[in-house]
Amino acid sequence: MKKTLKIFKWTAIILGSLLAATFIFIQLTWNKKFTAPYPDIKASKDSTVIARGKYLAFGPAHCATCHVPMDKIMAVENGLEIPLSGGWELEFPGFGNFRAPNLTPDTETGIGKLTDADLARSIRHSVGSDGRLIFPFMSFQEMSDEDLTAVISFLRSQEPVSHLVPRTEYGLLGKALVAFGLLKPEGPKNTPQKAVVRDSIAEYGKYLTYHVANCRGCHTEMDVNTGQYIGADFSGGTLFEPDAFSNGYSHMSPNLTPDPNTGVITKWSEDQFLTRFTTGRIHEGSPMPWGAFSNMDSTDLKAIYRYLHSLQPVERKVAQTVIPPVEK
Ligand code: HEC
Ligand code: HEC
Repeated sequence: MKKTLKIFKWTAIILGSLLAATFIFIQLTWNKKFTAPYPDIKASKDSTVIARGKYLAFGPAHCATCHVPMDKIMAVENGLEIPLSGGWELEFPGFGNFRAPNLTPDTETGIGKLTDADLARSIRHSVGSDGRLIFPFMSFQEMSDEDLTAVISFLRSQEPVSHLVPRTEYGLLGKALVAFGLLKPEGPKNTPQKAVVRDSIAEYGKYLTYHVANCRGCHTEMDVNTGQYIGADFSGGTLFEPDAFSNGYSHMSPNLTPDPNTGVITKWSEDQFLTRFTTGRIHEGSPMPWGAFSNMDSTDLKAIYRYLHSLQPVERKVAQTVIPPVEK
């Protein structure tokens, strides 16, 4: 009996010390400084370039659905065009409280003091100007030089708005992921193209769905703990838990591959697809930025439709995409 107690005591002491050591290690090392190359991107004052950037920000790349104050998100989704003064916030309990910063040229609270290369590096390599990790909410690593230039030129052209958005704060789990190297900045896998031909062809659709509009990110099942994709691309199945806009509803992304039994757009004509997008939001709380996407032009939409229809069909039934709250 005495012996068992002794073993128990020592096990507790050793486990306790290990836990304490792990805790101290996490606290000391999570706030790492990362490095990444600075892309050779320079903002332009050319009005055509700025207009392209604005189109991307309020349309396919939907920067404006995150980088505006929380109480303006839905108004922007419904067509209001305001400077991107930041404020969207999402809390993953334990992992952290993530906040989209002010992207107007204000020098104190916005991007006024950041260089074009700083901004391009944050967007392309997920490393902030101070070396911090930029959490992977954005999927623009392989956005073309031309489009990245356009977006940054547009950001610079906005009127400065003084709006202090506190930095993202990590919880213990989030810090642990960074400390142990499980979460690190994501850069491009392939060298980004200088420019992409904008035509209603599948190739351009592929570029948009992967590197601009993030259709792939939401419509491919992801392991929420590791951030790794575990489903076949575009076969759906990502669960979106209720958030500030969903009124208790959860959502699940449908299968976009042209599977005859389980693909949602398999039987849609190109015209039906275009109409669905120009109609905009149908389900009030859907996480999909339908409002921003309703600003997409027909070249972009046709390109996306043609690309999705060129995919290998994957049979995967997503039973319910709009899931009502469970009655208590
Ligand atoms: C899904 C929401 C979302 C979308 C869409 C989005 N962002 Fe972000 N962005 C964020 C969040 C959240 C952060 C902060 C991440 C962090 O703190 O680690 C961020 C950070 C940034 C930063 C880093 C700023 C700094 O202080 O270094 C830049 C630059 C940026 N976003 C630009 C853009 C641009 C340009 C677009 C559109 C092309 C865009 N974002 C689209 C959510 C989003
Ligand atoms: C932030 C996550 C997110 C992004 C980004 C996103 N989707 Fe979705 N999508 C969803 C969810 C969730 C649903 C189910 C709820 C709904 O229908 O709104 C959905 C539904 C759909 C539907 C079915 C609509 C219907 O009427 O049945 C289509 C088609 C679709 N998405 C295509 C796309 C395309 C194409 C893109 C890129 C241009 C895209 N999605 C980007 C999450 C997303």
